[in-house]
Amino acid sequence: MSTEGREIESFSEAEAKAELDRLHEALAAADRAYFELDAPDIADAAYDAMKRDYQAIETAFPQFKRDDSLSDKVAGAPVEGFSKVRHAVPMLSLGKAYTDEDVVDFIERARRFFDRDKDLELAFTAEPKIDGLSASLRYENGVFVQGATRGDGAVGEDITANLKTIKDIPQTLKGSGWPQSIEIRGEVYMTYAEFEALKTRSAAVGGQEYVNPRNTAAGSLRQKDPGVTASRNLRFFAYAWGATTEDPAPTQFEAVQKFGEWGFEISPWMVRAKTVEDLIGQYKAIEEKRSSFGYDIDGVVYKLDRLDLQRRWGFSSGEPRWAVAHKFPAEQAMTTVQRIDIQVGRTGTLAPVARLAPVSVGGVVVENVTLHNEDYIKGIDSTGAPIRGDEPIDIRVGDTVVIQRAGDVIPQIVRVILEKRPAEAVPYEFPHTCPVCGSPATREMNEKTGKEESRRRCTGELICAAQAVERLRHFVSRGAMDIEGLGAENIDLFFSAGLVKTAADIFTLKARREAVQQALFERREAQARQREAAKGATRKKVLTAEERTYEGLDKLFAAIDARREPELDRFIFALGIRHIGETTAAALAKNFGTIENVIEVGKDVAAHPDDPASVFPSIDGIGGTVIEALSDFFGNEQNDEVLDRLLAEVRPKPYVLNVSATSEVAGKTVVFTGSLEKLTRGEAKAMAERLGAKVAGSVSKNTDIVVAGPGAGSKLKQATELGIMVLSEDEWLELAAR
Ligand code: IVH
Repeated sequence: MSTEGREIESFSEAEAKAELDRLHEALAAADRAYFELDAPDIADAAYDAMKRDYQAIETAFPQFKRDDSLSDKVAGAPVEGFSKVRHAVPMLSLGKAYTDEDVVDFIERARRFFDRDKDLELAFTAEPKIDGLSASLRYENGVFVQGATRGDGAVGEDITANLKTIKDIPQTLKGSGWPQSIEIRGEVYMTYAEFEALKTRSAAVGGQEYVNPRNTAAGSLRQKDPGVTASRNLRFFAYAWGATTEDPAPTQFEAVQKFGEWGFEISPWMVRAKTVEDLIGQYKAIEEKRSSFGYDIDGVVYKLDRLDLQRRWGFSSGEPRWAVAHKFPAEQAMTTVQRIDIQVGRTGTLAPVARLAPVSVGGVVVENVTLHNEDYIKGIDSTGAPIRGDEPIDIRVGDTVVIQRAGDVIPQIVRVILEKRPAEAVPYEFPHTCPVCGSPATREMNEKTGKEESRRRCTGELICAAQAVERLRHFVSRGAMDIEGLGAENIDLFFSAGLVKTAADIFTLKARREAVQQALFERREAQARQREAAKGATRKKVLTAEERTYEGLDKLFAAIDARREPELDRFIFALGIRHIGETTAAALAKNFGTIENVIEVGKDVAAHPDDPASVFPSIDGIGGTVIEALSDFFGNEQNDEVLDRLLAEVRPKPYVLNVSATSEVAGKTVVFTGSLEKLTRGEAKAMAERLGAKVAGSVSKNTDIVVAGPGAGSKLKQATELGIMVLSEDEWLELAAR
């Protein structure tokens, strides 16, 4: 073992410790980039080499093994709970206004309330309502000491460390005149530019998808590692305050200006006005300009300006009477449906997407919109009720449609303009076969609701390319075959390089070493290029020797070979048959004992598509859904082929019960007679044998148990004469299950 060209054995203690710490930092940073930023910044091989060196030093110098050793850590650990913070002054929500009349009402309510003060001139502020997450920041003597989410308004979460990474939030207040203690409140948000950049970074590495800036900002704030939050470049506008030792100013407007002086970002669009016309004028101006803001806003907030008057007017049902949020209507635009495409999701769901003539909605160009499922295209919901107007109105290629982008970024079709429907437009025919693999695509019955599922699903299972990658990822995953070093990343790579199409191919990779090597090498190069393009930064080169990759490869091939005889339950689970999770897989393994038996039963149910359950033994916890899934899977010839090829490479171990410890029938001799109703003779025999019993064909004084079904004759008689225990099939199953 060596690190940076030196033999670890030759390290002095000080050198070993320093090197261990250096590797620790580098590996931790790489883990962060990989698991949390979705932006791996170092090649797998280099990472593996560092990890090996790290572990080698730990072995050679155990005295320096760190308490936080990465060797013991499960990478990508989920966020742990944050501690709770009770808001001394609750964080309230706002009443809403949707129309100009609602705003007039609000102002008139104010006038009525202050009616007695004849000469009082009421002023209001108007400012954008930012579509983010509110946060409360406590400053003691000008120093930021604690920050919390809104939570339920009364109790939020302590996210101080994460908030500290936001550059719009000052660590210490600037200027002077701030209260000794004050909670500054405002909105954390993400700009479109930052959102797009994150999506691009993530897509480049096949990372997670991000729905919209608001949700992403929320997720970014709830990170365990503030480094992740920092990388998301969140922003903050201050617009309110909570508990404070003194009012920041006599009016709302001046208070917010003070926040600006103390070092906060404040909205440049805040104004003070005295008339409804001016307030609505500001609303219109903001609405008109909103697409140039670069971040989501969803309305304009009006607040009574004077704090003393705010206090007099007060609150009702958890909302201030003195403020209101004037919401923007969802933005709409008209366009045409040019095509309807079907995308096959990873679970085989056929997802229709309308391709639209590009149109700008609120500053965002929309070209695609999901059509959800075939009922949605027909214009009905799952109960058959119309969803666009009073009559079911379907969506056709050629249709002119109104699309809408609401507060979040996901656009939707709200209306079909029937007057504009071309004469030649025909109802869309939803495919009944998978566009990727040609297998039948079916709508299943939902057992619970007794209704058809709304989504059509490809039955191609293992042979469907769209599902293939996800299945392969599942196949190698922890609870399944658990092939070390063959994670999702490598699966994706080998799949796209055409090296692995189905699970069987994994076991022949070793024979294609050169090609595997080439694929890994190309990825490393691509990543390096991407990295350079991204930051132009140069990293100290850790990986030098090509043989490290070869070493890594040997390790990978060894890990694959090590799983050629998997436990039966893992193997069944790894096949990724729908509805067959770990528990069900274990039940199948336990009851059928060998993969051959499982396949036999699978074929049997598939041969009885009308009533597959009729040929399936009763097994605790296995119901119609699973039996149908087995029937679908084994009824598909292409799955057969894939499974055959896989079984040529892999020998799942027969399921063996711990005989002496578990079974009451272990060591007993059992005779089956009469007709069995739940088990075939073969199954009954296999089951008894698995439990450690011997199965005999005739009754003798050595027989311990006779299992007698209807129609049992001479053997039953003999058993009774000999005083041998006689059980019904059910009693036998009960005994066997103990
Ligand atoms: S004032 C007591 N001003 O809207 C008044 N809220 O519906 C406290 N929001 O939870 C809120 N921009 O997350 C205020 N300029 C603004 C705002 C704003 C966005 C959010 C905030 C609040 C919600 C109320």
